[in-house]
Amino acid sequence: MKKVTLPDLLKKKGAAPIVMTTCYDASFARLAENAGIETLLVGDSLGMVIKGEESTLGVALDEVAYHIRAVRRGAPSPFLIADMPFGSYQASVEKGVESAVTLMKAGAEAVKVEGGSEVAPLVERLTSFGIPVVGHVGLTPQYVNLFGGYQKRGKSQAERELIAEGARKLERAGAVMIVLESIPPELAAAITAEVAVPTIGIGAGPATDGQVLVIYDLLGMNGSFNPSFLKKYLDMDRLVTAALEEYRDEVRTGRFPPRRNKS
Ligand code: KIV
Repeated sequence: MKKVTLPDLLKKKGAAPIVMTTCYDASFARLAENAGIETLLVGDSLGMVIKGEESTLGVALDEVAYHIRAVRRGAPSPFLIADMPFGSYQASVEKGVESAVTLMKAGAEAVKVEGGSEVAPLVERLTSFGIPVVGHVGLTPQYVNLFGGYQKRGKSQAERELIAEGARKLERAGAVMIVLESIPPELAAAITAEVAVPTIGIGAGPATDGQVLVIYDLLGMNGSFNPSFLKKYLDMDRLVTAALEEYRDEVRTGRFPPRRNKS
């Protein structure tokens, strides 16, 4: 795969969909690159799918940096985005700049922050230092305690206006892309038509400039996780369990490793 740069992605606005998945390790990164996935996100979803936690809140900056290095080693070509984890940017713009610098030094090519107007000053400062920022509005998992869960956002007119205003402010502050998560498709379409930067949807319908999914979700790693927006391209839960059972049985019955012929 040819190296994908930010200008390559920006050119796609209104022309061709941007394909993004999350990724956390070198092995999956290699497969994603071989499959032509042009953009990888080390999401703080790693707290849930890698660490097995209940939310993304426990993820530390060093953990994201560790996974960024692993993904970069496995896939040098896709454009690589690092999530800024909870607590790494909320205290002050200065703290956010320090955190973003750590992730860029680890190999990220952009950072992602959750929130609208409230993160605009940070987006502006990072952009002024040459750090591209991806915004994220709608269902922002770092706000789970305020929202009371992971339900769709934008149900009321007031909430829809807040989300759209957040996207506008992010664009004005210099965000290079905006993730729209779990919002009504019509709202995602309206934001996509209004902002000049690519929007990337997850559970936001077909009108965004690109799509992102958590890699384990699209591969069907967890049979009991079935949100309505998700398409599983593989039944990894069943296939991996079946392979592990076969290995277990073959070891227990002496079929693996095969016996050598002494003749
Ligand atoms: O952390 C994450 O994986 C994300 C994507 C779902 C957009 O933020």
